[in-house]
Amino acid sequence: MNQKGVIIQGSSRSDGNTNKIAAFIKEKTAFDIVDLKSKNISSFDYDFKNQGDDFIPLMNEIVNSYDIIIFATPIYWYSMSGIMKNFFDRITDCLKIEKEIGRKLRGKTMGMISCGSDSELKKGFEMPFVESAKYLGMPYLGNFHTWMENEIISESLKKELNIFIEKNIKTVYTKV
Ligand SMILES: Cc1cc2nc3c(=O)[nH]c(=O)nc-3n(C[C@H](O)[C@H](O)[C@H](O)COP(=O)(O)O)c2cc1C
Repeated sequence: MNQKGVIIQGSSRSDGNTNKIAAFIKEKTAFDIVDLKSKNISSFDYDFKNQGDDFIPLMNEIVNSYDIIIFATPIYWYSMSGIMKNFFDRITDCLKIEKEIGRKLRGKTMGMISCGSDSELKKGFEMPFVESAKYLGMPYLGNFHTWMENEIISESLKKELNIFIEKNIKTVYTKV
């Protein structure tokens, strides 16, 4: 049985480079894309006064509809984007007050796609994803780093990305 996946896109522009990569993966896998830029998701609040925003409905949809969650983030100042970090911070809501959602995250597979302008991914970039997956009880399928030259995906990058999709992503979603 095929598992259904979603790409959580964390760019500060909806149709930028990260979206080009997300769209490429979508074409090969039929995964859906969630564009965090189009959502109203506030930063983490210890008093949980932000419960009326889009985060909880979005998380409910994610945990009830998908088995594979791929985070696609641009690299901004050597880190994941602020939009993506806000999303991760808000997962704390699912451990403190919306515990049913937190429980449903367990066992889902996480992966990560980074998109920078530099071909080199600096050491340590992947760590928050690996450790968060571990903490949340989510198997981690790995990371693929992408970068853009003149806003287009080079043919060699497409080839490498295809290999990652076949080896890391498709082997997960055809399991079960
Ligand atoms: C605020 C900001 C910070 C950036 N910092 C980095 C960086 O540290 N390393 C890097 O390789 N590229 C960096 N870039 C370039 C972007 O990662 C790159 O252009 C990426 O493809 C943009 O994706 P997007 O169009 O989805 O935003 C930065 C871009 C911005 C806007």
